[in-house]
Amino acid sequence: MDNRPIGYMDSGVGGLTAVKQALSALPNEQIFYVGDTKNMPYGSKSPEQVLQFTWEIADFLVSQDIKVLVIACNTATAVALPVLQAELTIPVVGVIEPGVNAALAITKNHEIGVIATNRTVQSGAYARALQEVNSMTTVTQVATPILVTLAEANDITSPAAIAKIKAALAPLKHQNFDTLILGCTHFPLMADTIQRTVGANVQLVNAGAEAVSIVAEILEVKNLRHAPMPVVNHDTDLYWTTGDPVLFEKIATHWLNQAITVKHLDLKPSLKDGRN
Ligand code: DGL
Repeated sequence: MDNRPIGYMDSGVGGLTAVKQALSALPNEQIFYVGDTKNMPYGSKSPEQVLQFTWEIADFLVSQDIKVLVIACNTATAVALPVLQAELTIPVVGVIEPGVNAALAITKNHEIGVIATNRTVQSGAYARALQEVNSMTTVTQVATPILVTLAEANDITSPAAIAKIKAALAPLKHQNFDTLILGCTHFPLMADTIQRTVGANVQLVNAGAEAVSIVAEILEVKNLRHAPMPVVNHDTDLYWTTGDPVLFEKIATHWLNQAITVKHLDLKPSLKDGRN
């Protein structure tokens, strides 16, 4: 048993789509979450910057004595996962591998679409991982960074927002994939509109939510589970943002369907990102 919290991180509110799954699948666990709203969007930053931000958050969460770190951000996973896994002594989980495995289990025609940030698309991480498992897989990737902007502005249902989402997804038209990976943790916030746009016969994969099975497995195998609680433990979860806590709290409360308190956090430069 290990009663320390699990740390989740993202560039903003996106990682909450992974947390949502953890709230129900891991009711006894305590969750600490950092959304780096000040530095978002990560998708338009250089790999060096994304690595730097990821280290700053990892250092903070490790200083809060977490037992597992979940990089609930595809962009940071694509850039930083192997480095953090090599250097941290706690298990570090990313969101790309779970998304890949889920998509490969679903697809019937071996044609998979991926929507993600520019940085994730440019990294080629999804295409590599998908083809590594099954070299017959055809991958169509499209960067749709506007979806991140809309999610962070809490503007996902207005007619203007829906028009922007549809326009961003237009390059996917006439593609033959039967499975679409939401390769950015912000995107499940607008899954309804995405589903309507790509059509009901395309299955959406929520890569962030899929990560919970890997977290559960690590807790089990490494004997890191929290001691059983008489009531669910999520009352003691803690949320921080490097940006505006008011807007963050509004989006998070709505998405998680529970009242949470969000604190402001100033991150400190990391000694591990290679610049110091
Ligand atoms: N939520 C993030 C991801 O999964 C990054 C969005 C951004 O900051 O560009 O890729």
